[in-house]
Amino acid sequence: MSPAARPVKTAVLPVAGLGTRFLPVTKSVPKEMLPLVDRPCIEYAVAEAVAAGVERVVMVVSRGKEALADYFDRNPLLEQHLEEKGKEEQLALVRSLSDMCDVVTIRQGEALGLGHAVLTARPGVGDQPFAVLLADDVVDAERPAIGQLIDAWEPGRAVVALMEVPRAETRKYGVCAGEWLSPDRMSVSAMVEKPDPADAPSNHAIVGRYVLPPDIFEILRRTPRGRGGEIQLTDALAALAVQGRVTGKVFEGQRFDTGNVLGWLDATLHFARKRPDLAGPLAEIIARHS
Ligand code: UTP
Repeated sequence: MSPAARPVKTAVLPVAGLGTRFLPVTKSVPKEMLPLVDRPCIEYAVAEAVAAGVERVVMVVSRGKEALADYFDRNPLLEQHLEEKGKEEQLALVRSLSDMCDVVTIRQGEALGLGHAVLTARPGVGDQPFAVLLADDVVDAERPAIGQLIDAWEPGRAVVALMEVPRAETRKYGVCAGEWLSPDRMSVSAMVEKPDPADAPSNHAIVGRYVLPPDIFEILRRTPRGRGGEIQLTDALAALAVQGRVTGKVFEGQRFDTGNVLGWLDATLHFARKRPDLAGPLAEIIARHS
């Protein structure tokens, strides 16, 4: 389906987490502002959403995360400076960020979990199906990962992104069980958050891309605090799964967890090596270090 014809026009980006796996830098820099080469992780997520036809981004932010909204806002002082110096290329680059899409921010007063962050976005979403992208899950794909999910979406249903993981790693993810409708589409009947490998119902894990129906908000409102005292999105999705309303979509693409140091290094090297201006010099640097 062409991006413009896709039915999902709003994306929620929850960026109000504390980022404890990446301390100390995340004490004052949001993990979503950490760069992969020269662009922050958040830009990869917004670009992916826009490429899938999204026109409006609702960012769920918290205290100290102003840099995230600033990045997509106009910066008249910088633009004037670049204009006066005749730096046309940089000027176009800076302006292209504020032209990407409409960005609105909503504050999550307390980090009460991903489910609570999604619920907080409710006034910015309205009564339409919407996408959710976790910006620290960066996916490099030919077709935007969230677009693949939107294409698998059907009215009234939720779609979650699925990735096969080694069984030993299930305790890092929410894991799905269900019936395969095709090699890449599962009708999900159950979800378990971070199970021990012995208890995991499968090795198909949910990663940070979702398409959700608007009635998820009512379900989240009634969802009690779960694991870690947080309102878990997985618990609300499990309620939809019981109603037979969740599709798991195995997406094409390479996913990086940039919310931890090694995942971020992996992603940094991946994207740097794809840059024609950097690949050669980078190979020399790596050879020097090995
Ligand atoms: P994570 O599980 O990665 O938590 O959240 P975190 O706090 O950001 O990071 P760690 O685990 O302490 O290192 C998944 C996503 O949900 C958002 C995060 O910003 C991230 O994009 N989130 C989480 C919120 O917006 N609010 C919350 O209360 C919790």
